[in-house]
Amino acid sequence: MVSSVVDPGLSLRFPATPTTPTPDEARASLLVDPGFGRVFSDHMTVASWTAERGWHDDGVRGLEPMTLHPAAAVLHYAQEIFEGLKAYRQPDGSVALFRPDRNAARFEHSARRLSLPVLPASAFVTAVTELVRLDAAWVPDPPATLYLRPFMVATEAFLGVRAADEARFGVLASPAGPYFSGREVGVTLWIDPELSRAAPGGTGDAKCGGNYAAGLAAQGVAREHACDQVLFLDAVEHRWLEESGTMNVLLVTAAGELVTPPLGTILDGVTRRSVLELAAGHGLRPVERPVSVDELREGARSGAITEVFAAGTAAVISPIVRFREPGGEFTVGDGTPGPRTLALRSELVDVQFGRAADPRGWRVPVG
Ligand SMILES: Cc1ncc(COP(=O)(O)O)c(C=O)c1O
Repeated sequence: MVSSVVDPGLSLRFPATPTTPTPDEARASLLVDPGFGRVFSDHMTVASWTAERGWHDDGVRGLEPMTLHPAAAVLHYAQEIFEGLKAYRQPDGSVALFRPDRNAARFEHSARRLSLPVLPASAFVTAVTELVRLDAAWVPDPPATLYLRPFMVATEAFLGVRAADEARFGVLASPAGPYFSGREVGVTLWIDPELSRAAPGGTGDAKCGGNYAAGLAAQGVAREHACDQVLFLDAVEHRWLEESGTMNVLLVTAAGELVTPPLGTILDGVTRRSVLELAAGHGLRPVERPVSVDELREGARSGAITEVFAAGTAAVISPIVRFREPGGEFTVGDGTPGPRTLALRSELVDVQFGRAADPRGWRVPVG
């Protein structure tokens, strides 16, 4: 693995410097129908890093544009990583995060892969928590959430190709409504025959901006075929299911399995992990193994595969009811969301919103 810098003497507290808040009425109207990723709260978390000083200048401050030198490494070599998690309004009015330790661990993994400095997990969780605490009024009522976007960019002004000696970390908060608005009936995926997202040895298991830039073309092709998203196949044989543009893919079989492609070139999704852990309670055996597109097509046709769904923080669990590919299309089950998919989604969402018991300790209150 590429070497990365861990700051051993880290004591980031992210002290708050509150700005004048958006008036209640204006905020309330923004929260009515926020969409996804367009509205931002009053504050952001920040911290700077240099090879010389380590992490410093941390805080939660008013949201404002970042100033970058035009030669900043991120603008030329895409040395950038990010995360995505949510804050959920609880029945008693308090706010909770969902498994932020998993996002912290993945952020560390991504930092190492992109040769960025490591932000220790405890600092990551503090950074997110302090922002949500200050901007708690921006957490909407269910089913909407406050989407949180931690990120890190290489800011050193230097055009040579090497790991930058300067970086900045930030967290944004953005109230979010449903991801696939109006698509409760299930989504259609385009099985792309040639455009790949990730190759063995590449960055597929890191959450870095470059992966998403490289996936946009396939997403465009999917849209041209009237599909909601793309299903990427492996880069070597173009035969094995990988994942969707922003979600992992899981299949329910008639034999009572919950099958999903193994980790390696895909993102280690927090939602994927969570539904695999919930599977047994729904009479399903979790199985991580390669699934070919032929097995998917034949299984959907024969009934051996009864349901397919996508799992990710933004869209939670999205039933996939149809696939299109160059040769035609096929439907899963009767073309409507399946019962196992809906039951898993209900259980997960109820834990996140504090409507169900949380025996695994996944909810983390923002005190
Ligand atoms: C490519 C990709 N796969 C899977 C996921 C699902 O991961 P998670 O459940 O942690 O949101 C995401 C979203 O972050 C993603 O962007």
